[in-house]
Amino acid sequence: MLRSHTCGELRISDVGQEVVLCGWVQRIRDKGQLIWVDLRDRYGLTQLIVEENVSSADTISKINSLGREFVLQIKGQVKEREAKNDKIATGEIEVLVNEVQILNPAKLPPFLIEDETDGGDELRMKYRYLDLRRNVVRQNLQLRHRVARETRQFLDAQDFIEVETPVLIKSTPEGARDFVVPSRMNPGEFYALPQSPQTFKQLLMVSGFDRYYQIVKCFRDEDLRADRQPEFTQIDCEMSFVEQEDVLHTFEGLIRHLFKAVKNIELDTVPRMTYADAMRLYGSDKPDTRFGMQFVELNSLLQNKGFGVFDAAELVVGINAKGCANYSRKEIDQLTDWVKRPQIGAKGLVYIKYNEDGSTKSSVDKFYSDEDKLAVLKECQAEPGDMVLVLSGNTNAVRKQLNELRLEMGNRLGLRNPDEYKVLWVVDFPLLEFDEESNRWHAMHHPFTSPKPEDIALLSSKPGEVRANAYDMVINGTEVGGGSVRIFQKPLQQKMFDLLGFSPEEAEKQFGFLMSAFEFGAPPHAGIAFGFDRLCSLFGGVDSIRDFIAFPKNNNGRDVMIDSPSSISEEQLKELSIALRAEKGQ
Ligand code: AMO
Repeated sequence: MLRSHTCGELRISDVGQEVVLCGWVQRIRDKGQLIWVDLRDRYGLTQLIVEENVSSADTISKINSLGREFVLQIKGQVKEREAKNDKIATGEIEVLVNEVQILNPAKLPPFLIEDETDGGDELRMKYRYLDLRRNVVRQNLQLRHRVARETRQFLDAQDFIEVETPVLIKSTPEGARDFVVPSRMNPGEFYALPQSPQTFKQLLMVSGFDRYYQIVKCFRDEDLRADRQPEFTQIDCEMSFVEQEDVLHTFEGLIRHLFKAVKNIELDTVPRMTYADAMRLYGSDKPDTRFGMQFVELNSLLQNKGFGVFDAAELVVGINAKGCANYSRKEIDQLTDWVKRPQIGAKGLVYIKYNEDGSTKSSVDKFYSDEDKLAVLKECQAEPGDMVLVLSGNTNAVRKQLNELRLEMGNRLGLRNPDEYKVLWVVDFPLLEFDEESNRWHAMHHPFTSPKPEDIALLSSKPGEVRANAYDMVINGTEVGGGSVRIFQKPLQQKMFDLLGFSPEEAEKQFGFLMSAFEFGAPPHAGIAFGFDRLCSLFGGVDSIRDFIAFPKNNNGRDVMIDSPSSISEEQLKELSIALRAEKGQ
């Protein structure tokens, strides 16, 4: 080893010891007779001191040539510091240097390698290896490591075994586009990278593996957001001979274990909400339940009183913004503009204020009496000082809009505390959703999800009403995991493909292997996958999952450090039969 200790290790009890340290120069302070250097490594920071009259001329000349981020090996003696620093673990000591080796000089880094850096996003991503030297970013990856370790520990103890599934596969329909890889040996043919190991984990159940998990990379070519990366990691799990209840119980256990181990938080039993209730009360299948502000449907109170907009609406629905009766005209106009932005798409916003003196004021006073307004306020459990905000329109659209407004009001009122965690199971998802664009039914989760047995009879007559044995785990409004009980019998799987518009030939071509496996003794099975990056960012109290991935892509799906994706040579293209095909087409 080139060192006897790390830079985070020495304490007052080590005073007098001769030590060898290695690390990077964080900071240099030169006071003429005395020079201090902060030496940093993964474990911490140690203050080095060089005294003009004590250290050798060679040492002093080397120290004078140092710059930030030089890599050093130093030998010296541990001393008690005169001015102690209680902010760092090594703050009671310093090391008096008597020998310095410059292991490698360094160019001036393009941004400050400090907790508060002057580097913008793009610059930090281009030099991600330098960004990773910063405490905050390193701590995020350490947290990620802890979550992975605790996950493995918990699942190992429950008899789950980790099995690797292939990365070069055939398309899996999880709803996003596939990334594809051309095959040199099979000209004109392509592998797809897995959107998830879904079909493989089901095949492992047919093989009798019984309890499987894998911390696994998945690939989805979709539009990126703060909580989406084109390659991301799942904690992917599957179990045999279980029902939905067993899966919920087992994985509530995993999440409880992770909260305890990583955050020292004891979670209560995770409450459950049906998809239908989530949509009705929050307008979202991933409600942020850290705060109330539930939707109140107001059709019966606000329709047929002469206000045409409400009368024509399918749904009139409001939320109670507590303590907002003092909002000024200007603030309300601003909120109205906010909901009318194209991203939200509301036509307008109606407010009903419950003034402190008990009087009411609304933007639709022309149509509603005081009594009408008080009835609405009562329905919304408003108290003097509150303001009810109302939207109306087509049910699906207006729920989406009010969901956005609710979250925005939650932000404005400081109700979304990142240190508070509210975990929720959303259950009973619909099996199918109708897509207007393609004019056909789509699987809401994926085509392997089982309908609820009591709803199977509706499959042909009312497919939209069939509920699935599917569940999501939601934390603070983020979907951290999702899964389902699976279909495990060929006829039902065939029926499902049929409903989804696959011809029998197409279904056979794409999923024949799975349906064939179902004919060789497939056990009943069910599973779930958690978004590992999302879990880590939640534990870290940060919205973006990028900060928890060592080498992430930017919003255009690019790795700006290695400059990828990039073009490949004519020769490579030819080898892959891609250029040849293009030539043929000319
Ligand atoms: P699903 O598609 O719901 O289910 O994915 C499971 C979880 O993965 C996370 N996730 C993502 N995280 C980061 N970036 C992305 N682009 C991204 N996409 C999804 C989410 C999500 O809840 N095979 C099924 C699971 C099953 O049925 O067992 C599946 O993949 O947190």
